[in-house]
Amino acid sequence: PETGCLSVVVLGASGDLAKKKTFPALFNLYRQGFLLSNEVHIFGYARTKISDDELRNRIRGILIQGKGASDEQLEELSKFLQLIKYVSGSYDSAEGFQLLDKEISEHEVSKKTIEGSSPDLGGWTRIVVEKPFGKDLDSSEKLSEQIGELFEEPQIYRIDHYLGKELVQNLLVLRFANRFFMPLWNRDNIDNVQIVFREDFGTEGRGGYFDEYGIIRDIIQNHLLQVFCLVAMEKPSSLKPERIRDEKVKVLQSVLPIKDEEVVLGQYDGYRDDPTVPDNSNTPTFATVVLRIHNERWEGVPFILKAGKALNSRKAEIRVQFKDVPGDIFKCQKQGRNEFVIRLQPKEAMYMKLTVKQPGLEMSTVQSELDLSYGQRYQGLTIPEAYERLILDTIRGDQQHFVRRDELKAAWEIFTPLLHGIDNGELKPTLYQPGSRGPEEADQLLERSGYVQTHGY
Ligand code: BG6
Repeated sequence: PETGCLSVVVLGASGDLAKKKTFPALFNLYRQGFLLSNEVHIFGYARTKISDDELRNRIRGILIQGKGASDEQLEELSKFLQLIKYVSGSYDSAEGFQLLDKEISEHEVSKKTIEGSSPDLGGWTRIVVEKPFGKDLDSSEKLSEQIGELFEEPQIYRIDHYLGKELVQNLLVLRFANRFFMPLWNRDNIDNVQIVFREDFGTEGRGGYFDEYGIIRDIIQNHLLQVFCLVAMEKPSSLKPERIRDEKVKVLQSVLPIKDEEVVLGQYDGYRDDPTVPDNSNTPTFATVVLRIHNERWEGVPFILKAGKALNSRKAEIRVQFKDVPGDIFKCQKQGRNEFVIRLQPKEAMYMKLTVKQPGLEMSTVQSELDLSYGQRYQGLTIPEAYERLILDTIRGDQQHFVRRDELKAAWEIFTPLLHGIDNGELKPTLYQPGSRGPEEADQLLERSGYVQTHGY
């Protein structure tokens, strides 16, 4: 920071996200020299009444969990923990926040005074907001208005951590820096696109939160829709964050209303056993939704967004399936179509499924892959955590990988009618077994949408 003084405030400092993501990300930035001891102070704020040291001890426990840390690493950690202060207070009364403000000002003023400059606080304030951004179009707009009364849009960083993932960030480069894809990326060549998120565990202690939102609000309306934008949008006129976000908004605005027959909802057996979930819950833990774009590039191409909890594997991927080869002389279509797969996680990879000659004396064909697996190609490289990247972007003032207000609105416009249908009980989830592929109807919908199952990968 230009001022030489940065205060980071972590609201909800004793919560799940802070523990799992925020503090580890801050620590990683500190270790790499992006946060400097003599410049940075971290303020944790939450309701829990604990002391500075108690919070530090909790964080220490998380950060060295299961690792045989060296003396040097432990020392680094101790120095990092010394940067953290804790303030306890409620979220809905001014008192706690006034106390927090006092602590921050004291720190910043003393910092400035030590350096001999006048205690003019100047500088900037940026706010990072995590989902849920409301529950539907109206509540989200209301929230945007309230936040908008306090902060200007360039100060607001709506986080969607999928935008911090390496292979999601790569989409822009892949599509617009390679000659291969440009001429093929359209309705003439692509038959269907799948964007899939699967988790092999259930809601695990988050049932209370999850039940109010469900899988569409938790994953599809944000994470998968952001990926969808990057796959489907037109080329931005430059890499300026505003130009990229303009294109995302345009493609979202071109999405047609979702049809009920192109939706499958599921709930895993055992979900309602969580004591914080009502016995009659109608909340989907699985959904497949087909989006259709009304524009020149994509008319008629289904984009199948699928997400589920408690399934048979943990994976997030984009699967672009091409059309059959016209006038196929090899009769190889049964082996499968060309596909381009981008695996976001785990084991980041991109591969193209293509037909080649079966090596040997016969003139027969086989499906094979051109494979770029990051673990092999970039051995020894640690891919940064999404939150680490996005927090650094916030400090640097780069909003490219954050959601703009009009983008959020367009996203809610797409899903609100469907969500209201579910909330009213008009649409109900089918039961599926934990550890399965999800409801069979989802595979049927996939087939109806034109997807042809290929073998191998
Ligand atoms: C969060 C959801 O946004 O993303 C969770 O609230 C989900 O339900 C998580 O488990 C998945 O993130 P990742 O990075 O593990 O794919």
